[in-house]
Amino acid sequence: MGRAKKVVLAYSGGVDTSVCIPYLQQEWGVEEVITLAADLGQGDELEPVREKALKSGAVESLVMNVQESFIRDYAFPAIQANALYENRYPLGTALARPLIAKILVEAAEKYGADAIAHGCTGKGNDQVRFDVSVAALNPNLKILAPAREWGMSREETIAYGERFGIPSPVKKSSPYSIDKNLLGRSIEAGMLEDPTFEPPEEIYEMTNAIAQTPDTPEYLEITFTQGIPTSVNGEVLNPVALVEKLNQIVGNHGIGRIDMIENRLVGIKSREIYESPAMVVLIQAHRDLESLTLTADVTQYKRGIEDTYTKLVYNGLWYSPLKTALDAFIQKTQERVSGTVRLKLFKGNATIVGRSSENSLYTPDLATYGAEDQFDHKAAEGFIYVWGLPTRIWAKGNQ
Ligand code: ARG
Repeated sequence: MGRAKKVVLAYSGGVDTSVCIPYLQQEWGVEEVITLAADLGQGDELEPVREKALKSGAVESLVMNVQESFIRDYAFPAIQANALYENRYPLGTALARPLIAKILVEAAEKYGADAIAHGCTGKGNDQVRFDVSVAALNPNLKILAPAREWGMSREETIAYGERFGIPSPVKKSSPYSIDKNLLGRSIEAGMLEDPTFEPPEEIYEMTNAIAQTPDTPEYLEITFTQGIPTSVNGEVLNPVALVEKLNQIVGNHGIGRIDMIENRLVGIKSREIYESPAMVVLIQAHRDLESLTLTADVTQYKRGIEDTYTKLVYNGLWYSPLKTALDAFIQKTQERVSGTVRLKLFKGNATIVGRSSENSLYTPDLATYGAEDQFDHKAAEGFIYVWGLPTRIWAKGNQ
């Protein structure tokens, strides 16, 4: 008896996930491997990936374009939550995992599989995100993670694959480990493991080097409707087109690069480079619009919710009761977050230079220092008396 009869394997077309196909069958007694490649806008040709899975021994090779759901159901809620892990990482990789888990589970149910499988190693966050998401969606499915157990080096993995007709990578494979989708690129390993090593220019694809950026600033207007970005420079765009357009405009100015030492859930600190142009400005602009349309207490209370939300997503708890409850809170706060934010893009910086909303709580008559001032200055005196009373009493006790 093998570990499972029929398995749906998360498939990228790379050596590791390809080797998983014969490995699951030969070593773990799996009878049928169905592969599933998710199109998240990573830009790879997926027809060759589909064929490669079949050549590597899969009985069925599925390719699913889930770009729209990725942006609408995963990225947009994260923008509403202003989700930046450790204040910096806009979760491009972390947001893709619960969606991939969801389509794996759906495929397993459709094809009558008793397990899902993935090629994650035992050191990263992604294994946690896959395993916990699958468990949350269908706790009866087994989860197989061959690369967590097989203990093969890179060379051994390639040699194992060659025995089963999996070609070793043609081009000298990149020294980096790269995860890519519509939301950006996550780059780690190789020389980047040395935290003092400056990332070489060639690792970037979505953002220009400052030396290559335009010498004149560009203005950009992003319009939100209830916290969801709906148009760019006045043009209404669907979710995928909007993100693609912003990646292009913003990346051109060299904005959206992040170089950080990050705390993984499994206790390891890792050096990660991100480029995530659209997400960086979308969160920046969204937060600014909230400052115009939310009351002070909601704005300030939401910060704590955002922090918890972001950690939940990073730590693989997308499908969890706390995350669902926080979603409800966040959704409620977004009802009036509609309006337009104006940014100026120049030499690696996006600067917000204006914002407007039909729901603006900014009251010029109260804020002005000019003659139109409507604020009752005398009322301040009584307010300060009451506000300061506990402090006054306490100070007397000190005398
Ligand atoms: N550290 C990021 C995360 O946990 C990205 C990991 C993606 N993998 C990579 N090969 N860089 O979400």
